[in-house]
Amino acid sequence: MPPATPRPRRIFISTALPYANGAFHIGHIMEYIQADIWVRHVRLQLTAADQLYFVGADDTHGAPIMLKAEAEGVTPQALVARIAATRPKCLNGFLISFDHWHSTDSPENAELSCDIYRKLKARGLIYPKTIEQFYDPVKGMFLPDRYIKGECPKCGAKDQYGDACEHCSTVYNATELVNPYSTLSGATPVLKTSEHFFFKLSDPQCLAFLREWTQHHRLQSEVSNKIREWLGGDGEENKLVDWDISRDAPYFGIEIPDAPGKYFYVWLDAPIGYLASLKARLQQENQALEDFLRDPGIEQYHFIGKDIIYFHTLFWPAMLKFAGAPYHVPDNVFVHGFITFSGEKMSKSRGTGISPELYLDLGLNPEWLRYYLAAKLNDHVEDLDFNPDDFIARVNSDLIGKYVNIASRTATFIKKYFNNRLGKNFTALPIAQETLQQASAIASLYDKRQFSAAVRQIMELADKMNAYWDQQAPWTLAKRFDALNDVERAALHDTCSAALEVFRLLTLYLKPILPKLADEAEQFLNIAPLNWREAAATLPAGHTINDYTHLMTRIDPKLHVDRLLEAQAQKVAAAVVTASAPTPATKSSATAPATTQTSSTITIDDFMKVDLRVAKILHAETVEGSDKLLKLTLDLGEEKPRTVFAGIRSAYKPEQLIGRFTVAVANLAPRKMKFGVSEGMVLAASSAETPGIYLLQPDSGAQVGMKIK
Ligand code: 2FM
Ligand code: ZN
Repeated sequence: MPPATPRPRRIFISTALPYANGAFHIGHIMEYIQADIWVRHVRLQLTAADQLYFVGADDTHGAPIMLKAEAEGVTPQALVARIAATRPKCLNGFLISFDHWHSTDSPENAELSCDIYRKLKARGLIYPKTIEQFYDPVKGMFLPDRYIKGECPKCGAKDQYGDACEHCSTVYNATELVNPYSTLSGATPVLKTSEHFFFKLSDPQCLAFLREWTQHHRLQSEVSNKIREWLGGDGEENKLVDWDISRDAPYFGIEIPDAPGKYFYVWLDAPIGYLASLKARLQQENQALEDFLRDPGIEQYHFIGKDIIYFHTLFWPAMLKFAGAPYHVPDNVFVHGFITFSGEKMSKSRGTGISPELYLDLGLNPEWLRYYLAAKLNDHVEDLDFNPDDFIARVNSDLIGKYVNIASRTATFIKKYFNNRLGKNFTALPIAQETLQQASAIASLYDKRQFSAAVRQIMELADKMNAYWDQQAPWTLAKRFDALNDVERAALHDTCSAALEVFRLLTLYLKPILPKLADEAEQFLNIAPLNWREAAATLPAGHTINDYTHLMTRIDPKLHVDRLLEAQAQKVAAAVVTASAPTPATKSSATAPATTQTSSTITIDDFMKVDLRVAKILHAETVEGSDKLLKLTLDLGEEKPRTVFAGIRSAYKPEQLIGRFTVAVANLAPRKMKFGVSEGMVLAASSAETPGIYLLQPDSGAQVGMKIK
């Protein structure tokens, strides 16, 4: 715990801003849960004089969002608003306690971005430079590298992106591509000049500041090593290069002051969005951002993923430092790794992984996920693997089997024999003392974001409590309760009461992770909300608790996890089938907004990436334990037949399918399912409005293995 300070603390914490062109994925939720656990822990230390603001926002600007909106026939603002409307469901659903959620497309962000820009310009750190860039003459816009393709200048591989070859890994400039084309229009791009604005990161004062910033803040070792690589060592040549911060119209962004038709590059205004969100939140309390930031003791922390370290440890601190007052340089940047699923990268298109929305829709308890992630998160930049069996085991055996169990097994005794009243001397028992003694060690692990170590320690305490209970075997005394003398009766009473005191402490220790459960446990114990400052305020002697009501249900592997994984796979299958067909609602209403299913157009190249083949169903069988899946053996004209699990059991009996021809996706990465590995996908039509699933079938004469294009 930080040392007691007479000055009120002013703390400002953010998570990375998600692009406003899609729903949250599990990686976002993992970051929010990590940050939220830390925030809740810090809040449990604060006094009424302290202030903490935990903010987020949508990252709205940039070419991809502009183009997506255009493809949908809506304004970027409408697209962003639609996505913003989906946010509360997940944020509330996973108990993320943001104080405010904002948008980078806001007056606050425009004002702050222009202010920071002007201040940097006044310091001589912004300069114009004319650059030559590819321009799409048909689309009438400059092309970011990701929208240019061509042949690799090194190995000649076709259809390579404008920055690097996926075939031979050569990194190059888009202008070096052979036969380049615009992926937006197919046109050959032309070189065109334009004046851009640059932030002078190469300025020696930036280097000197960043070296000092890196040394004086306790950054994670992986992060400081990375920065050292970028900055180079003392006496080495300055490796920092200036940063192009402007983009030409058409661009969805903030127009640069005194530069009509020029916009801030999205990565300039995105982190400023943290401040914009804070400003909007403070405005609700009639507080000025400037006043808040000017407090010399302010603490500013950003939680981010490992892919955006560069932006947050070079550009962002330098921008804030040289913009000067009232801006404050971050005190730290907390970096996490990615989340994988059973050892593999999560892929929405392959249906591997966890969809946060489906998780909530299927009624899974958000605190299961919070606990599981906490049990695996540490302060290193490491990837975290979600493993379904491990998830079930940790929640059921540890969280419920150890912690919740203490309350449920004790409550019966306290109610039956003592009318819900606690004993007198229980807080002096060694088990209660020992559990209390761990408070500061556990709080300190939370401070350092070593959540897995904290959880381990908490579960060890729960183990000790359960062992103590078994050793005391209170049920033996209880069996002859009416015959007990006063000493025996007090002993039984104190054992049960000490168990509840231990449960109170463990509840406090788990509270940052399990806020809802803690709330319910506090009600059961009939106590005021727990916090770190009052950890030692034990349950009073003779205190009356409330009747125990069930605190948490166990994960049912079939009902919860299998259903979630199957629903996810089906969602992907349905998306493949429906992606090309507008829903009846869109067809019948000319004015209806574009649906999410036809969210953007794809190029012929994109389509050709899907290897569709004529397949023959050699065998079909039901899958034990699944009422949705059929296991198909498919001949795709290859050496060996493939196994594919398809969610079509509701529509077909296995014998109806054997010998039938259908269409399969042949280049779908194999997907590990509970029942085996699925090596592809068969295509079927379905819609939300009309029941049924309709397997595709080629016209007669089609041969096994034929390519569909
Ligand atoms: O990488 C991303 O998803 C960005 N939208 C993160 C921005 S974080 C901050 F700078 F806003
Ligand atoms: Zn190449």
